[in-house]
Amino acid sequence: MPRADLVVYNIGELVTFREGPLRGREARDPQRAGILRNAGVAVRSGRVIDYGPSSEIRARYEAAYTYNARGLLVTPGLVDPHTHLVFAGSREDELELKLLGYSYEEILAKGGGIHRTVRATREASIEELERLARERLLEMARNGTTVVEVKTGYGLLPEYEYKMLEALRGLNAPGLPGIVPTLLAHVIPQEYKDDREGYVELFADEIVPGAKRVEPKPVYIDVFCDKGAFTVEETRRILQAGLRHGYRLRLHAEELAYIGCSDLAGEMPIDSMDHLEYLPPGNAKLLASRGTVATLLPSSMLSVFSEKKPPAQALREAGAVVALATDYNPNNMNPSMQSVIDLAVYLLGMTPLEGLAAATVNAARSLRLDGSHGLIARGAAADLVVWEVPSYRWVGYKWGVDRVREVFVGGVPVKGGVD
Ligand code: NIG
Ligand code: FE
Repeated sequence: MPRADLVVYNIGELVTFREGPLRGREARDPQRAGILRNAGVAVRSGRVIDYGPSSEIRARYEAAYTYNARGLLVTPGLVDPHTHLVFAGSREDELELKLLGYSYEEILAKGGGIHRTVRATREASIEELERLARERLLEMARNGTTVVEVKTGYGLLPEYEYKMLEALRGLNAPGLPGIVPTLLAHVIPQEYKDDREGYVELFADEIVPGAKRVEPKPVYIDVFCDKGAFTVEETRRILQAGLRHGYRLRLHAEELAYIGCSDLAGEMPIDSMDHLEYLPPGNAKLLASRGTVATLLPSSMLSVFSEKKPPAQALREAGAVVALATDYNPNNMNPSMQSVIDLAVYLLGMTPLEGLAAATVNAARSLRLDGSHGLIARGAAADLVVWEVPSYRWVGYKWGVDRVREVFVGGVPVKGGVD
């Protein structure tokens, strides 16, 4: 009898998303979600080796461990494709300032916001940054997240940007979500406030190529392209350097204002554009036709008290691949993709199934990990969420609390349960 490390059985409803990524309306269609009832999943060496009817999977494998899912919903692990989770310090007082009417940009322009986190992060040791990042990753895992994109951007100068990457080195460990590192051009540092061009040159010509020698090496180059951050021209220069040096590209775009960042999708291969509150609905077609994933961050939208929402309906009608992410950062301390799905349902008009697809298979697409993560298929990572609810229709229907009973990251349970 073939052996398995783990068999999860008695799954009431298994949503596999094996046909993903799902474009536009497809993400709402239960026929496209690859749903099985009374299912089982077999795992060996961190990967799914088989899935099918529960009784057959149980009978087919000699399992070292089993897990009885008791008729509940099981989905692929949640993928969080946009976070800033390495940082020191906190900014809880800025929440009160925002509530008094100061805008995110005003706080930033006064040397608060990102600049304040930069000061704290530069002062922190690598060990301290690693400890903070580990705690945050564990909290995310317990809430269902099994892959996390992590950005730099609170160092700004070469040595500190590289320190942020090095803080991730020890975090490639069993039971922790997988990490996709990104080098982020976040803002012009205060040392360069009278020499923007000098900083863009430093970032493009020194920080970008130098990061290739850091361990872990970033997969992505990202730029905060927005009013108060980098202009379209500056962004273009940094992204072009990224391409030349063999990185993949993603972008913060149209969060605080429309300044034309999303137009760059027509010029360069950009895997994902994120935020998009001010995306002109006409540009939804551009993203769809270029295969650029639209990654929406509804909790981040709330944390800047945005007057605008991203055009979710235009993106759906254009047939874009839409993903969700937390944007976990000191301005938005929300580690939970579950809550992001809830907000996508109630603020952006996504259906529960659409929200789940956006947080799994489409979020994996945003990181170009589709095929290996965010879906349940033979050979894919054994990243599974066992929900406290019986069906995908209950995700976002029951809301506001943790609904995750167990999470398997590469087959390892993070909440402590096997039979
Ligand atoms: O994605 N928008 C730019 N950066 C982050 C916020 C970072 C911060 O405020 O520390 C974001 O929202
Ligand atoms: Fe961000």
